[in-house]
Amino acid sequence: MLRETLRELELQPGLRVVDGTVGAAGHSVEILPRILPGGKLIGLDRDAEMLQRASQTLQGAHSQDLLTENVLLEQSSYAELRSVLDAHGIESVDRILVDLGLSSDQLADRNRGFGFQSGGILDMRFDTRQGEPIHHWLNRASIEEITSVLKQFGEDPLSRLIAQSIGEQRRKEKIETVSQLTQLIEKVASGRGKKGGKSHPATRTFQALRIQANAELEHLQRFLTTTAPQSLAPGGRIAVISFHSLEDRIVKKNLQDRDVWKSSSNKPIPASSLECKMNPRSRSAKLRIGIRAD
Ligand SMILES: C[S@@+](CC[C@H](N)C(=O)[O-])C[C@H]1O[C@@H](n2cnc3c(N)ncnc32)[C@H](O)[C@@H]1O
Repeated sequence: MLRETLRELELQPGLRVVDGTVGAAGHSVEILPRILPGGKLIGLDRDAEMLQRASQTLQGAHSQDLLTENVLLEQSSYAELRSVLDAHGIESVDRILVDLGLSSDQLADRNRGFGFQSGGILDMRFDTRQGEPIHHWLNRASIEEITSVLKQFGEDPLSRLIAQSIGEQRRKEKIETVSQLTQLIEKVASGRGKKGGKSHPATRTFQALRIQANAELEHLQRFLTTTAPQSLAPGGRIAVISFHSLEDRIVKKNLQDRDVWKSSSNKPIPASSLECKMNPRSRSAKLRIGIRAD
């Protein structure tokens, strides 16, 4: 989505641009040269480790003097962008990009518990300073609560069975690791003849638990209704890349509010067929653009 996003953002020298999910700075490293001279890049991420990666990427491409002058990196949710701007005396910005979800680095990190193939402890928080590891909740929540989260955030037809199996398992021993949960889900799925489907049977559960651990949809909703409108200058552009229908539904609905957004794409922009071939994950990516009303 890099090419499409850069095109739709209509970048030019002097603009103040927020990359609200800076990650490893794959987008930011391309945005920065397009807004120079005079522009400002504000990169946010809830994950301190990703901010370090962003800093390394940018340092590999630009001089320290330029970064000090033109770049601000801060550990924060994009939902808190207004407070970040206030703290730095920035009245408004011209562009905001958010590329939702998580990065492949996070998915592969054994210490985070995001991926069912990564092993390790079930933590799943982007910002480890806040909240609690998801395994605490998993061992405490009622079967109804777990069913509801798996159903709502994972749209998983096996939600109830998986929640019941979690209930049975945790009576024997606490569920703390990725492999405990993955094995349990595989067992439930194979009992229902669901082995060997298109995606691994744990995919939806892990997505649901990550959304729950980080209150992701609440952050997205607050960002679109309050933070982004309060931060963007009139005529400013927002670009949102989402990876599943739960997110895209929220983005689409909010961008249709004509009191706030004077225009938005009715149809989302997909990744190019070349990108889909090179990176199968991008097949589910959708880019939507909004322009702030005056
Ligand atoms: C798909 S990756 C972004 C990749 C990035 N665009 C790049 O090119 O490298 C999503 C990033 O968003 C971060 N993230 C998720 N929710 C966030 C939020 N509410 N506020 C800020 N960052 C968030 C994750 O920690 C992750 O680093």
